[in-house]
Amino acid sequence: MTYLVLKAIHVASVALSLGGFFARGLLMLADSPLLAVRWVRIAPHVIDTVLLGSALWLAALIGQYPFVHGWLTAKTLGLLAYIGFGMIALRRGRTKGVRAAAFIAALAAAAYVVSVALTRSPVPFYAH
Ligand code: HEM
Repeated sequence: MTYLVLKAIHVASVALSLGGFFARGLLMLADSPLLAVRWVRIAPHVIDTVLLGSALWLAALIGQYPFVHGWLTAKTLGLLAYIGFGMIALRRGRTKGVRAAAFIAALAAAAYVVSVALTRSPVPFYAH
């Protein structure tokens, strides 16, 4: 598979993951029962598996790796923060306030990862 096809899959899964997370966050804030619907709970796991799989495959193709190259280390840690805060926001947070704060933190982590992706620099929102 060519690099560009893989990158398109990666970016598409990023868009679905972020869009889906944002939508589920709004459902959480609205206390919507839709959050418990089976496919709404399962789809993110499928999307995030494609996201991570394409990420690691891309990294292998360009021969740059997390914990070797700074920008991929930053992306990986940012992804873990996005997942961790996302879990608190959608499931684990005890109060609505905690879940809302975790939702904002997860969105900030995702924005940071997008910034790192676009600049290939761990410095946030660094301009070329
Ligand atoms: C929330 C998580 C992630 C987001 C939002 C994200 C976002 C993006 C975006 C928008 C691009 C396209 C950049 C461009 O065309 O200039 C990209 C490319 C890429 N991503 Fe990710 N990514 C994520 C996770 C990861 C992880 C964890 C890794 C590696 C372990 C990774 C490795 C790569 C690689 C190698 C490229 C190709 C770089 C290039 O051609 O410039 N990504 N990512």
